Amino acid sequence: MSSYALEIVAECHDRAGFASGLESVDRYLREAARGHLEKGISVTRVLVEVGGTPPKQVVGYFTLSNIAVEAGDWPGVAKRLPKQAVSAVLLGRLAVAKAAHGREIGSMLVASARQLTRETILRTGGIGMVVDAANEHVVGFYTRFGFRRVSAASLRMFLPSASLETGAVIPKDE
Ligand SMILES: CC(C)(COP(=O)(O)OP(=O)(O)OC[C@H]1O[C@@H](n2cnc3c(N)ncnc32)[C@H](O)[C@@H]1OP(=O)(O)O)[C@@H](O)C(=O)NCCC(=O)NCCS
Repeated sequence: MSSYALEIVAECHDRAGFASGLESVDRYLREAARGHLEKGISVTRVLVEVGGTPPKQVVGYFTLSNIAVEAGDWPGVAKRLPKQAVSAVLLGRLAVAKAAHGREIGSMLVASARQLTRETILRTGGIGMVVDAANEHVVGFYTRFGFRRVSAASLRMFLPSASLETGAVIPKDE
């Protein structure tokens, strides 16, 4: 069985060779992830096999950023939030290489993203974790991890900070 490491996206990763089956997330990794990292917009972490040599094959990835959201009616969040915007962590993108689908790698990436989100919220606050599901099909995947739609008409999903559990294992990072 392979062992994996989670690394911040860098030149040594084969971004062009990544194919998840959803072009928009493949394109983001190829064309935007490193630039967004350099500009401080978001941080993308890629999952690679331990011991791989450059260009390292990317098995999966996810992207996190901090966002400001309107203090509205978020499911599972205490009422009477202040009127101004409050912060949350956005799981902007998450994908697994098509050849590796169905091996619980997506679940492992969600667990790692949740743990990083929890650490961020413990340090600097935040009402929870937001994800924008790419389509209706993917809503079912995120529902498994406790995310709930913000509204019936929206693909935006939410996990309140109280539900971010401890104990997920993050592979060795940066
Ligand atoms: C969605 C995706 C990340 C799942 O990754 P994966 O490694 O195949 O998922 P896992 O093996 O961890 O699956 C965990 C469970 O979720 C289920 N699942 C996987 N994709 C699902 C989906 N789209 N809808 C509902 N359930 C799904 C699996 O059947 C599995 O269930 P089981 O434990 O009962 O067998 C992957 O299919 C992918 O990269 N898709 C293309 C990119 C994409 O859509 N990304 C999301 C953008 S928001």
